[in-house]
Amino acid sequence: MEDLQLLLNSASTAAATATAAAMIGLTKIAGIAAVASTATAAVVGGRDALQYVNHFIGTNNGIHAGHVFPGANLPFGMAKAVADVNGDHRQGGFSLTEAGVTGFSHMHDSGTGGGASLGNFPLFIQAGCPGDELNRCKFNKKDRAVNYTAGTPMAHPGYFSIQLNTSIIAEMTTTNHTALYRFTLPDVPVPPFNLTGISEPAPLSPMILADLTDLSDSRINGTASVDPTTGRMTGSGQFLPTFGIGNYSLHFCADFRGASVRETGVFVNNRAGSEPKTINMVDDGLNNSPEILPAGVYAWFDAPEQDNQILARVGVSFKSVEQACGHAEREIPDFDFNATYNAAEAAWADKFSVLSVDTGAVNNSLQSTFWSGFYRAHISPQDYTGENYLWESDEPYYDSYYCMWDSYRVIHQAITLFDPWSQTQMIRTLLDIYRHEGKLPDCRMSLCKGFTQGGSSADIVLVDAFLKNITDGIDWQLAYEAIVSDAEEEPLNWAVEGRGGLLSWKSLNYIPADDFDPYGTGLFTRSASRTIEYAYNDFCIATMAKGLGNEGDYEKYIERSTYWRNVWKEDQTSFLNGTDSGFVGFLMPRYLNGTFGYQDTFTCSLLQNFTSCYLNPDGTEFYEGSSWLYSFLAAPGDMASLIAAMGGRETFIKRLDYWHETPELAYMGNEQPFQTVFQYHHAGRPGKSAERIHQYIPSQFNDSIPVGIPGNDDSGAMGSFVVLSMMGTYPNPGTDQYYLTPPFFPEVNLTNRMTGNTVTLRNVNFDAGYTNIYIQSATLNGENYTKNYITHDFFLEGGILEFTLGANESAWGTRQEDCPPSLTTDNGIWD
Ligand SMILES: *[C@@H]1O[C@H](CO)[C@@H](O)[C@H](O)[C@H]1NC(C)=O
Ligand SMILES: *[C@@H]1O[C@H](CO)[C@@H](O)[C@H](O)[C@H]1NC(C)=O
Ligand SMILES: *[C@@H]1O[C@H](CO)[C@@H](O)[C@H](O)[C@H]1NC(C)=O
Ligand SMILES: *[C@@H]1O[C@H](CO)[C@@H](O)[C@H](O)[C@H]1NC(C)=O
Ligand SMILES: *[C@@H]1O[C@H](CO)[C@@H](O)[C@H](O)[C@H]1NC(C)=O
Ligand SMILES: *[C@@H]1O[C@H](CO)[C@@H](O)[C@H](O)[C@H]1NC(C)=O
Ligand SMILES: *[C@@H]1O[C@H](CO)[C@@H](O)[C@H](O)[C@H]1NC(C)=O
Ligand SMILES: *[C@@H]1O[C@H](CO)[C@@H](O)[C@H](O)[C@H]1NC(C)=O
Ligand SMILES: *[C@@H]1O[C@H](CO)[C@@H](O)[C@H](O)[C@H]1NC(C)=O
Ligand SMILES: *[C@@H]1O[C@H](CO)[C@@H](O)[C@H](O)[C@H]1NC(C)=O
Ligand SMILES: *[C@@H]1O[C@H](CO)[C@@H](O)[C@H](O)[C@H]1NC(C)=O
Ligand SMILES: *[C@@H]1O[C@H](CO)[C@@H](O)[C@H](O)[C@H]1NC(C)=O
Repeated sequence: MEDLQLLLNSASTAAATATAAAMIGLTKIAGIAAVASTATAAVVGGRDALQYVNHFIGTNNGIHAGHVFPGANLPFGMAKAVADVNGDHRQGGFSLTEAGVTGFSHMHDSGTGGGASLGNFPLFIQAGCPGDELNRCKFNKKDRAVNYTAGTPMAHPGYFSIQLNTSIIAEMTTTNHTALYRFTLPDVPVPPFNLTGISEPAPLSPMILADLTDLSDSRINGTASVDPTTGRMTGSGQFLPTFGIGNYSLHFCADFRGASVRETGVFVNNRAGSEPKTINMVDDGLNNSPEILPAGVYAWFDAPEQDNQILARVGVSFKSVEQACGHAEREIPDFDFNATYNAAEAAWADKFSVLSVDTGAVNNSLQSTFWSGFYRAHISPQDYTGENYLWESDEPYYDSYYCMWDSYRVIHQAITLFDPWSQTQMIRTLLDIYRHEGKLPDCRMSLCKGFTQGGSSADIVLVDAFLKNITDGIDWQLAYEAIVSDAEEEPLNWAVEGRGGLLSWKSLNYIPADDFDPYGTGLFTRSASRTIEYAYNDFCIATMAKGLGNEGDYEKYIERSTYWRNVWKEDQTSFLNGTDSGFVGFLMPRYLNGTFGYQDTFTCSLLQNFTSCYLNPDGTEFYEGSSWLYSFLAAPGDMASLIAAMGGRETFIKRLDYWHETPELAYMGNEQPFQTVFQYHHAGRPGKSAERIHQYIPSQFNDSIPVGIPGNDDSGAMGSFVVLSMMGTYPNPGTDQYYLTPPFFPEVNLTNRMTGNTVTLRNVNFDAGYTNIYIQSATLNGENYTKNYITHDFFLEGGILEFTLGANESAWGTRQEDCPPSLTTDNGIWD
């Protein structure tokens, strides 16, 4: 998914330093500037690797913002705590370039391109109210927002901290369903802002509020209560998802430690009062207005008993307040911040322990790029098991598949390699959703159906897992039924599940630009890109049919996988600024009557009308990408035929070169082009794929902040792309193949958690300046290995893959039999 926001003139903010860490005595926080700048050869993995994670990569970049969530969470955890900011780029809660902290909230999504998800029930703290008058504190989001002290945002796996402009230091850590905040207050409260007329000193008497709002002000209704004795705050609300339909309920339960309660009550807008103790906000029918009425509860405390600190523990649940309180009481019984943080860090160290990297002379910047990518591959989907109020089930329930159109390409492959147990839970969830909702999701967030962007992407995710021995508790016959349903039965609302235009798909064998489809509802745009995505979905269905021994279905769906040819216009030329690119044969939209339509081959690239190609009614025939891009993706399962259609191997390679070398054409900030980096492999030029990956890493994927990545991370897609590319084993989605290129390190070991087996990816003649990026020869377990790809059994069984590198392209991996398999092979491109 790409960003829907307009270009923001983002002010750059100074990098955070280790100052706050020193101030609060947490020595193990590396933050973002604490890694020494010169590298020494070392073996890095597990806990040692955590220091290289830079959470602020991808938090902003204007229109190409990463929207990464930089806060505290457990791997795939539901609780995700961070300081929320005002501004256009608050999708991940916090962004280094946005000012004005409005609160601290407990749930987030990472890397989304739509609106800002979640961020419900934020807490906000003021150390005292001017003149010790409650109503001179600030209650609503707009008025209470305060900036933060430059350089203070710090993050480490499981931890986030920031110092507000009001001198309050806020630290946070989490368990699976609970956020724990530690606020350290100044001796003398600093006024929220410099209001004229405020001269009275404020005694230290912290006021904490919980706001019935979320990041995108989507509340429909809500209720909150505060216990006058304990200060416990509980509440519930109904909110809207950000890239989907329907609404969702969420509940919270906040408790405090470290100060005695002075007064409690409720607030509305900017007024507060000690009675009543409960506030109910109903749907006023105006919930589409930009602002909802600010409302919530507060607790006003005496000065903290110790160290000027007050702790807040907030449990969340989709099911009930009772469950939210139960989570909090069970997960963090003693409000022990250090212990909670240590446990969170240990959970991350455990995830990182599957990798062990000999870093040689590779600089810290690249190490940070690599480990930060690894980290971001473990944020979503989120484990909401036990939280699904939609149906009763003993199956796991993960959510925030945001979205599979993005994640089918490399995120789920990364999770399969690094954490097959979690991938198994995610696949079981998808099947349980199919069982209870009748269709697989394509995008899903907050228990709601999200929007489909092209094909039925879950088909690819399922087949990829099927081929990789993801088996525990998975009913693969049911999975097959589910993906066949995508191909055969058009749902009434194909904007959120399944596929549209299935009648045309089956009769005309393409999706017409002027489709007649009275069977379902959805946007009649993206006809050309939907056609090729449906064809690839059907290729994957054929793959599973074959794996399950269903030869008849295999033939049927393989036939359908060739339908990309029906939108391939053989004689289509391509002119850029009046200059013939020299390439012929492109995907083009096609009408019901069989006539081809026309969309400029460069439209929807950064060169032309980039922002006209989103999911909206006047969208184009290709989704978030040009015909130039989608033409390379027309037949991922039959690359030999595509290469033939493009005029043979030499022309194909020149065409890939043109694509990667024309400025602004190959934009890597979206997920579809990832595959084009490695497509040279299919034409017997693996060395050119290696050149391309070094073209993009580190120029576009690096450890700079807040940019670091060229587009929305989309729940970890950019991170997964980086980490698997740098390991030299980039997956071909929907297959069990990985393209081989030299790892960016002398040696990488990866242990499969399911089988316990380890693979070693080793370079001989490695140089950290990356002159020797071409494989001259390779051995697998000591035997010569000439294929330019490897299959997943390598990762299951373990083994040693050793590459001997050189400074020039070699004959290695260049023969037809060395290339990844293609549906057809006898089409003359190898003659
Ligand atoms: C928490 O850990 C820090 C750093 O290790 C230490 O200085 C502090 O005393 C600990 N606090 C508690 C309450 O254990
Ligand atoms: C926060 O900083 C921004 C930009 O640096 C500034 O425009 C804004 O007025 C500040 N807000 C407050 C409350 O100080
Ligand atoms: C508070 O914010 C103002 C305006 O952004 C800034 O000038 C001032 O230095 C900040 N103070 C602190 C303590 O961060
Ligand atoms: C958090 O959830 C994960 C599963 O997603 C589980 O493995 C882990 O044990 C849980 N942590 C705790 C402390 O319960
Ligand atoms: C408030 O404003 C006064 C006068 O403009 C200035 O001297 C003072 O530093 C300001 N205080 C803060 C906290 O910004
Ligand atoms: C809150 O909104 C939900 C969804 O629209 C509705 O089902 C529920 O009845 C509402 N509750 C109140 C108290 O208005
Ligand atoms: C990888 O594993 C092999 C075999 O166990 C071991 O010899 C080597 O030192 C390991 N390399 C790294 C970087 O951990
Ligand atoms: C095309 O023309 C525009 C405007 O004249 C220019 O900015 C752009 O660089 C040109 N693009 C290429 C790829 O030549
Ligand atoms: C086919 O349909 C398109 C779109 O309605 C129209 O522009 C074109 O002229 C038609 N072609 C023929 C041959 O009828
Ligand atoms: C491209 O943008 C131009 C100018 O905004 C507009 O006139 C044209 O219709 C757009 N083309 C497409 C295919 O959206
Ligand atoms: C393996 O490759 C090496 C170097 O590329 C070559 O000298 C040797 O003959 C090969 N061995 C076999 C069994 O093919
Ligand atoms: C496949 O996974 C199962 C566990 O789900 C495991 O027992 C088996 O060894 C795996 N097979 C291979 C070939 O690794």
